[in-house]
Amino acid sequence: MPDRTPPDRPVVSIRFSAAEIASRVEEMATDLAGKLEPDTLVVSVLKGSFVFAADLIRALSRAGADWSMDFLTLSSYGSGTESGTLIFTKELRLDVRHRHVLVVDDILDTGKTLNAVLERLRRLQPASLKTCVLLDKPERRSGSLQADYVGFSIPNQFVVGYGLDYDERYRNLPYIGVLKNPPPAE
Ligand code: XMP
Repeated sequence: MPDRTPPDRPVVSIRFSAAEIASRVEEMATDLAGKLEPDTLVVSVLKGSFVFAADLIRALSRAGADWSMDFLTLSSYGSGTESGTLIFTKELRLDVRHRHVLVVDDILDTGKTLNAVLERLRRLQPASLKTCVLLDKPERRSGSLQADYVGFSIPNQFVVGYGLDYDERYRNLPYIGVLKNPPPAE
């Protein structure tokens, strides 16, 4: 039979299994539930954080915390592994003024995205603003930004899965993996 495998097919090697992620999310929720103000507004930064945020809020409920939920969509102009110009393509629907807000994002890399989100939210005068990211890549940070809550710290590798994509692919993977030999972005 002829081998139909493309020669440069991308390879995803598992970095954090679904079970490891689930266990860490549960731990984070237990920690957060003891610290969050009542009825904290959880702001999920789309698209990348939607899987993490969905798991986190359900774990927060199990840990006894109550929350409200809203979403912001930030799109990076361009595709591939580098973030380009950031544009807010979906704004919040709920009123943030005087609310305690927890921003949830998938990954903190250079800090450009989270900085843009925090700047936007600060102008709306929340009572408090905390940040929670599943992954932190401190090596690539361009400023001093740190997240208040971090799931896993990772080296400077491009990761996909559990909501994280490469060119809109791999979000559906139940685990987080390192993408090797990515195909050129379309
Ligand atoms: P910055 O550099 O703004 O990056 O802190 C945050 C956003 O960039 C994307 N990003 C990644 N996406 N695998 C991904 O799938 C990665 O390794 C990665 N690093 C950065 C992501 O959208 C994140 O919100």
